[in-house]
Amino acid sequence: MTTIQFPNDIKWGAATASYQIEGAANEGGRKPSIWDVFAHTPGNVRRGDHGDEACDSYHRYKEDVQYLKELGVDMYRFSIAWPRVIPNGTGELNPEGVQYYRNLINELLENDIEPMITLYHWDLPQALQEKGGWESRQTIDAFEAYAKAMFEEFGDVVKNWITINEPWCASFLSNYLGIHAPGKTSLQAAVDVSHHLLVAHGRAVKDFRDIVPDGEIGYAPNMGWMEPFTDKEEDIEASKRAMMWQKEWFMDPVFKGTYPEQLVQLFEKNGAVLKVEEGDLEFISQPIDFMGMNYYTGGLARHKEGEGLFDAEEIPLDNRRTDIGWPIYADGFYRLLRDLHQTYGDVPIYITENGACYNHEAKDGRVEDTERVDYLKQHLASLHRAIESGVPIKGYLVWSLLDNFEWAFGYEMRFGIIHVNFRTFERTPKDSFYWYKQLLTNGWFEV
Ligand code: NOJ
Repeated sequence: MTTIQFPNDIKWGAATASYQIEGAANEGGRKPSIWDVFAHTPGNVRRGDHGDEACDSYHRYKEDVQYLKELGVDMYRFSIAWPRVIPNGTGELNPEGVQYYRNLINELLENDIEPMITLYHWDLPQALQEKGGWESRQTIDAFEAYAKAMFEEFGDVVKNWITINEPWCASFLSNYLGIHAPGKTSLQAAVDVSHHLLVAHGRAVKDFRDIVPDGEIGYAPNMGWMEPFTDKEEDIEASKRAMMWQKEWFMDPVFKGTYPEQLVQLFEKNGAVLKVEEGDLEFISQPIDFMGMNYYTGGLARHKEGEGLFDAEEIPLDNRRTDIGWPIYADGFYRLLRDLHQTYGDVPIYITENGACYNHEAKDGRVEDTERVDYLKQHLASLHRAIESGVPIKGYLVWSLLDNFEWAFGYEMRFGIIHVNFRTFERTPKDSFYWYKQLLTNGWFEV
C-alpha cells in the first residue's frame, strides 16, 4: 500500500452545470436556450431526452447543498443559466432568476462552501441564436453585458469565476461536428464561434478587474492527451496536430496573444478563415488568475493520410473504457499537466472537471461504483505526481455531484457520485461519494 498525501491548501470540490441539473425549464421567467430547442428536436439526443426537469435541482438545491456539506467540499462549481437571468439574452434582468442564484449562493455560504460560478456552460438564450448566436459578434456584446450584470449582482460574495466552459465543445463539437447545440456542420462557423468565445472571455475578464478587484477569474478548456503511437517523427507530428485544436487553439491566444499559425493554415486549406479584428487578441490575452482544466480521456495518435482534419488516427491505449466509451488514460492526465506547465508557465491550475461515466443503478439504497472509485484513484494519483513535480494545482473538482443530463447522450450516461432516479428525483450517494468524502476528511488515500 502506498499513501498518497495531498498538500493542505488544495481546494476540493464538485461541479455541475445549469442545463444538466436544474430542470424547471419553463419556470421563474426562464426562456429557452439553444439546448432546449436542440434537445426537443427529434434525433439530436438519445431517447429524446431533454432538460425540462433534469435533476430538479431548481427546487431541490437545498438538499444538494446538504450533500455537498456532508461530502466536506471546500468549493462547489455551478453555472448560471443565462436564459434564466436574462431570458432574451439582452435587456432587463429577470429578478426571479437572479433570486434563484442568490438563494443558492447564500445556502452555500451558510454551509461554508465557496461558490465557483461558470458564466457560460452552453445554454445560450435561443433569442440570441436566432440573431446568429456565437457566429455573430453581437453575441460577444451580449455576453459582456450579462457577465457584468452577474459580477455586479454576486461579485461581493462570489470570488471564483469561470467565463467559458469547454470552448472547444461550444465551437467545434457544436458547429463543425454537429453533435451539440446548435448542431451545425460548418468549419467556418466553428472557427468564428471559437474566436468569438475567446473574445467574449477576454472582455469579461477586463470588466471583472473593475467590478470584482479581489476576485479570481479563469476559463475551463477541455483537453485529452494524445501520445504518439511510435517515436517516428510522423507520429509525433500527428499527435501534436491532433491535440492542437483543443490545446494551442484555445491556449495560445490567451497566454501568448497569438493563434497557432500551423492550424490557421490548416483551417484555411479546409476553407475556413480566421477573422481577427483589431484589439481582439489584446482582450483575449488579458492575464487571468488560473487556468481551469477538464480532463477525461486520451489515447495514441498515428499518422494516417486523409484521416480527419489532421491526418491523424486515434488509437486506444488498451481496452479499458468507461461506459460512455472513452478510453481511460490516467497517465495522460499527468503528462498533460506537465506539458501545460512547461508550455504556459506558472499559471495556477484548477481541475475544474474530472470524473467517469459508469451506469450503475441503486440496489437497496446502495450504488457500488467500484470502477468510478478506481478511475478517481488513478487520476488523483496522476494529479499528485504532477503536484510533486511542481505543477501549481489550486484545486480539484469532481464531475459530477449528481447524475445528470449528459448532453447528446441524455440521462443514459451517469457521471455522478450521487445517483439520481430521474422519475422520482431521489438521490442516493454512491460508494464513490463515501470514498471521496474520506479523501476530503483525511487529505490522503491509499492505493
Ligand atoms: C464536460 C462538460 O463540461 C460537462 O458538461 C459534461 O457533462 C462532462 N464533460 C462529461 O461529458
